[in-house]
Amino acid sequence: MPRTATYTNILDADIFPMERGAPHGLFDRWRETDPVHWNPVVPTYVATQPDSTMTKGFWVLTRYQDVFDVSRDQDRFSSYEDGFVIWDPGQEELARQRANMMGMLPADHSETKQVVLPAFAPKALNTLGPEIDKLAQEIVDEVVGQGTCEFVFDVASKLPVYTFCELMGIPEEMRSRVVDLGNAMADVETPRPLTFNPTLELFAISEKVCEQKRQHPDGSLLSTLVHDKSASLDQMNINLLFLVFAIAGHETTRSTAAHFMYLMKSHPEQYQLLLSDIDKHLENAIEEVLRYTSTTTNFARTATVDTEIGGQHVKKGDKIYLSYAAANRDPAVFDEPHVFDIMRSNARKHLAFGTGPHVCIGARLARMELNALLKQVVTRIPDFQMAGEPQWLRSIWFNAITQLPITFTPA
Ligand code: HEM
Repeated sequence: MPRTATYTNILDADIFPMERGAPHGLFDRWRETDPVHWNPVVPTYVATQPDSTMTKGFWVLTRYQDVFDVSRDQDRFSSYEDGFVIWDPGQEELARQRANMMGMLPADHSETKQVVLPAFAPKALNTLGPEIDKLAQEIVDEVVGQGTCEFVFDVASKLPVYTFCELMGIPEEMRSRVVDLGNAMADVETPRPLTFNPTLELFAISEKVCEQKRQHPDGSLLSTLVHDKSASLDQMNINLLFLVFAIAGHETTRSTAAHFMYLMKSHPEQYQLLLSDIDKHLENAIEEVLRYTSTTTNFARTATVDTEIGGQHVKKGDKIYLSYAAANRDPAVFDEPHVFDIMRSNARKHLAFGTGPHVCIGARLARMELNALLKQVVTRIPDFQMAGEPQWLRSIWFNAITQLPITFTPA
């Protein structure tokens, strides 16, 4: 059951480590008594934005239906107007967000989405499937004889980056560097000095690979972007898309895998159930982990007109915090929402991937990766144990595990 600690600032980066997840006690209280809750302005430090400011309060949505309806109505609730993050993005950051799929004007967004969508369609992903299975097997091959590993970096972080490389058509010799850069980008909320600039390096790799694709077109997403005529993408647009895909699918997928491990160990009866028939239960178990943990806990929108949400008057320009974490524990949709139940019949209804025009384009791919990787893990090292306390990311955005040491019988 959730704890009932009282926080005065929902954007306190210490909440996730303290609660080992989102503050569900608080969300439950708001959902029951004040479901469209006004959060006054509070000084907030955002690690990714050291100069960040918060100049206004915002609405926090905790009911499933409200999060669902607002996400689907981009005319009234925009991710372009003031960005898709809850803190003030500032002019430079806002410009970057508007160049990103998640924050484009609706017309530009549809145009770009048409170009990238085929790479995520079932047909394309079915072709990628055997490669993902092979990569998952190789990743587990590397640790299986050791009897111990740090699951997040040694196992979970590798598949999203290798898959990104496959998707983009990045040559073999560049991949280990892309892994380092991907990890550095995913770890961006942990302030520490870096001797390199991962964004600029990823741009340089994008440009180099684009040049190769110009000469030698292939079926990769980067080749499609380079040769596309419909959306008139210049090199910087392509670099930014490259960056979005490098980031969006990494931290999220690896943390979901880490949460899966942690939840299986903290719910041994559920783990036994899973092991009793892995093929039958794994898919739904992953959906339940996505629902229960909501690694991307929120995105933001801005009201474009004076309007109302759930009976509450909302003014043009007001910012809105879509709490996927709270929506995914709404008892109006999920019975006994705080119970982790891998047999839950409607687990897949969760909003962990968002919904509406900006719904996660990589959801199908993420599911494939998680299935491939976790199947390897639970079949090859089924007796894994925690070898230390998991570490949570200090963040106001991601419910992420950054370290998860495990031990197991070496094979
Ligand atoms: C467990 C893994 C993942 C989670 C929890 C997740 C979560 C989300 C969420 C909540 C959104 C909605 C943003 C909004 O409404 O503003 C989103 C959008 C997006 N995701 Fe994911 N994601 C995951 C994996 C991936 C992967 C593997 C990729 C690609 C390789 C990806 C690429 C994207 C992109 C490009 C968008 C923007 C879509 C748009 O604006 O049209 N994600 N994701």
